[in-house]
Amino acid sequence: MNIDGVPYRTIWLAEDGWRVCVIDQTRLPFRFEIATLDTVAAAARAIQEMTVRGAPLIGATAAYGVALAMRADPSDENLRAARAELLATRPTAVNLAWALSEMHAHLAPRPPSQRAEAAYARAAALCDADVACNRAIGASGVELLRATPPRDGARLQILTHCNAGWLATVDVGTALAPVYLAHDQGIPLHVWVDETRPRSQGASLTAWELGKHGVPHTVIADNAGGHLMQHGRVDAVIVGTDRTTATGDVCNKIGTYLKALAAHDNDVPFYVAAPSSSIDWTKRDGVREIPIEERSAREQTHVLGRGDDGALTEVQVVPDGSPAANFAFDVTPARYVRALLTERGVTPATERGLAALFPERAQAAERRE
Ligand code: MRU
Repeated sequence: MNIDGVPYRTIWLAEDGWRVCVIDQTRLPFRFEIATLDTVAAAARAIQEMTVRGAPLIGATAAYGVALAMRADPSDENLRAARAELLATRPTAVNLAWALSEMHAHLAPRPPSQRAEAAYARAAALCDADVACNRAIGASGVELLRATPPRDGARLQILTHCNAGWLATVDVGTALAPVYLAHDQGIPLHVWVDETRPRSQGASLTAWELGKHGVPHTVIADNAGGHLMQHGRVDAVIVGTDRTTATGDVCNKIGTYLKALAAHDNDVPFYVAAPSSSIDWTKRDGVREIPIEERSAREQTHVLGRGDDGALTEVQVVPDGSPAANFAFDVTPARYVRALLTERGVTPATERGLAALFPERAQAAERRE
């Protein structure tokens, strides 16, 4: 995507050809800063502390983390250690485990002397594949939007939660890919952007990237969506996913489930952009089987913002001594999902629909059972 006319991906190699550059998402929307990762530990920290976030970008960063590890020490032992260190960073997004398995399968059979070069090449290929996948999701999603008549007869009103835009991926985004495409094709639209407490990825990241692309949008409190739907002011909800079960349940940022319930009650289509890297073919019951990350309570008790003097300041918004809990994700059962948008097209959120689009993956999972 372009930032003030300059094309960027969210992850790329530094000029030295080996260090890994990422956009520091903890500083947006106030500062556009680049962080440079030069060890596997730095890559793991960037994922854990959410310098990078969003399921596909977590996977891409982990892939480059393995490359950094192989450059330092390409032994079997270090290959295993790097995988374990990166896997332990965040438990919910399955793209992380998927990218690490891809890297391991590519590197383990090779002699150590070839591993660093092979790891960088494979990480770059995974990044390119992510971009191609997101473009395909955009292409099928835009047809759904084109077929959706705006309730106000003027412009399409889309609601999204968290950030599943280009910042959450290597480029293009998943849930926002159809939105960007529709906007570029001249379809009049407006996006309701859920703030997405506690870390405010909607307010700070989605609003920022939509603004940079010139897409009309309004940031709303997380609890406003139901009200807007009741008043016919939302034509479609589109969100991303951190893990999709083989049966179509969707695990995404905390609060997604409530949006799905409100959409169901108001007959608003609820779409999920689900790249195949987010599908966990081993899971059938999202509520019971998907591990939900619990992050530091400080993310709930404190908020980062910019003061009138321009300085970034963290302020406390909860009384001293009140305990706080920070559940990072929830699960939306498949029955509330109108359709999944994948790189191979649109499918109902059902086991049969997913297996029909990805027969080789479904069959491989069946064989492993
Ligand atoms: O905690 P985050 O910011 O990593 O959560 C991100 C989301 O929930 C996204 O919707 C999801 O990863 C899909 S991104 C294409």
